[in-house]
Amino acid sequence: MLRYVIFGMMVGALLGGAAPAVAQERAKPQATGKKLVVGFSQVGAESAWRTAETKSIKGEAAKRGVELKFAIAQQRQGNQIKAVRSFIAQRVDVIVIAPIVETGWERVLREVQRARIPVILVDRGVKVRDDSLYVTLIASDFVEEGRMAAEWLAKKMNGKANIVELQGTTGSAPAIDRKKGFEEGIKKHPGMKIIKSQSGDFTRAKGKDVMEAFIKSDRDRIEAVYAHNDDMALGAIQALEEAGIKPGKDVIIISIDAVRAAFEAMVARKLNATVECNPLFGPILFDTIEKLRAGEKLPKYIKNEDRLFDQSVAAELIDSREY
Ligand code: AHR
Repeated sequence: MLRYVIFGMMVGALLGGAAPAVAQERAKPQATGKKLVVGFSQVGAESAWRTAETKSIKGEAAKRGVELKFAIAQQRQGNQIKAVRSFIAQRVDVIVIAPIVETGWERVLREVQRARIPVILVDRGVKVRDDSLYVTLIASDFVEEGRMAAEWLAKKMNGKANIVELQGTTGSAPAIDRKKGFEEGIKKHPGMKIIKSQSGDFTRAKGKDVMEAFIKSDRDRIEAVYAHNDDMALGAIQALEEAGIKPGKDVIIISIDAVRAAFEAMVARKLNATVECNPLFGPILFDTIEKLRAGEKLPKYIKNEDRLFDQSVAAELIDSREY
């Protein structure tokens, strides 16, 4: 995530340094006492994590009496852009976007800026030359998540493993950054090698399909699976079982998200570990919107703190998981 901030700072410096502050001031919605209207453009419903994020944001909006206009994009950026334009037409007070991919946002965000509506990004970042196009990004550090997964796996495998990687949606911030962080992490261990890597689009069904193909081509070489989310890991577990391979034993599996089904798979000793990526954005998102309305200056990046869970703590913690 740091790269978004550095990139924005560089552009800010080129423009004379004042752009982000000016834009934030201009974008401040008025606290008039009337019901706040927020437009939220969501990625889709591709994973259990995504469903938990939607539930958290909808639930918090209802709790605070905010009118939430919700648009689900079925993993298509074109649908998100249409939704954002419709939020502009409806004159919402704030636009919240969980962007499917990183690029291709400049034009529509410029339209939002011209309409003087502030944009808050949740979960995933965008790559734009002018970071005054959004107020702040609330998200996990995906590079760090990838690094955490690599370090845990290297320790578990004593620094030596043939790994297959199930990547998230091509072009999305978590797929790019989780790959980057993992590769950085295994670089210190020359015996840790990614032998195959392909996108499973963050879904259980595609994770299973890709894993089936990996098993077909490399059955005897695969020692570990690194999946960019739990849903794809759960699909991979199914593929391994159907091929007569014991997940969690014959093949070590680590993924990201820490959803309830991942805890169940760890308790069943089929998944070895998962790195948390907290989807419960509701409270922090609406706190941030309130601060913006109160005229507070916000940082460009608000970080979610995540941790790693493995089988040693799964049974003890499963009942306390909120998603
Ligand atoms: O952007 C966060 C990722 O998107 C989650 O890890 C994944 O499950 C989701 O679909």
